[in-house]
Amino acid sequence: MISEEIEKLEKEVWKDFQKIENLYHLEDFRIKYLGKKGKINWYLKQLKDFSLEEKKKLGSILNQIKEELETKLKLKEREILLKEEDKDIGLDLTLPGRIFPLGTLHPITKIIEELCEIFLKLGFEIITGPEIETEYYNFTALNIPDWHPARDMQATFYLKNGALLRTHTSPMQIRAMLERTPPLRIIAPGKVYRCDADIRHSPMFHQLEGLMVDKDVNFSDLKGILIYFAKETFGEIKVRFRPSYFPFTEPSLEMDIECVMCKGRGCKVCGNAGWLEILGAGMVHPEVFKSVNYDINMWQGFAFGLGIERIAMIKYGIDDIRIFFENHLIFLESFK
Ligand code: PHE
Repeated sequence: MISEEIEKLEKEVWKDFQKIENLYHLEDFRIKYLGKKGKINWYLKQLKDFSLEEKKKLGSILNQIKEELETKLKLKEREILLKEEDKDIGLDLTLPGRIFPLGTLHPITKIIEELCEIFLKLGFEIITGPEIETEYYNFTALNIPDWHPARDMQATFYLKNGALLRTHTSPMQIRAMLERTPPLRIIAPGKVYRCDADIRHSPMFHQLEGLMVDKDVNFSDLKGILIYFAKETFGEIKVRFRPSYFPFTEPSLEMDIECVMCKGRGCKVCGNAGWLEILGAGMVHPEVFKSVNYDINMWQGFAFGLGIERIAMIKYGIDDIRIFFENHLIFLESFK
């Protein structure tokens, strides 16, 4: 009986369907049952010899199976494709992970952070200020009037409107003292600019300014703090102080450390001196206090300024300042 055969076919179809595991199986299955010469079509063709009633009944059963199979096959196909895709994107857990390139802090940024850390421990507070300054903050308020030869010591970039690129971080002393009332203890790192370029000078470089103002701050406090800073930065190292001159400090000094290359014996790096100059400092000049309206009978203070690149060059044994700003990846990555 044909109706029994069709029943058997239906069972066979679903049993076979369960066995489909990949796209090859799926295609074979489709041809076997749904193809032009496939089993379902074969039975549909046989119906032509049957009565109208049987044609209708068995025909609709066969067509139903066909429709159901078509939708199920589509779903199956998607399921298989998704699984294969997973395999392609490498759900292979034995593969090594992907390594994404990571940047590093610039060596100058690193040194700034290290130096700030040292002074933060001593109770100093970090401030910042503008790189475009006026002559007043950069020179006049720091006891450098316009006739003063010290203006020529710092080859200045002037802007068209009479403003300038700050030649040192010292104008931040003035800004801090005007904004605050003493006692104060600040450091101010930042970029400074001078019209100067060779292996030791860059038209843009970095300084760190320090300022402490209180009722009885004296020269030995300054020396103590500078010695502490040198030891924290370079380890156990010999230092020396030399008298110097800055219009905004009196008395003024410069601090040297023993040459890290030759340990004081004299070499190319220290120009046979055995010593490397690392900073300028001194007691705040009364004229500076006057320009910010601090009572010179009440307040005393010290200030210091150091070149960040200089510290970095000594620490890392670099002899050409320009390398910091040329952005060679090999150089930068060596600070990872
Ligand atoms: N501003 C000085 C310079 O750039 C350094 C300095 C700062 C000296 C503070 C004394 C006190 O050379």
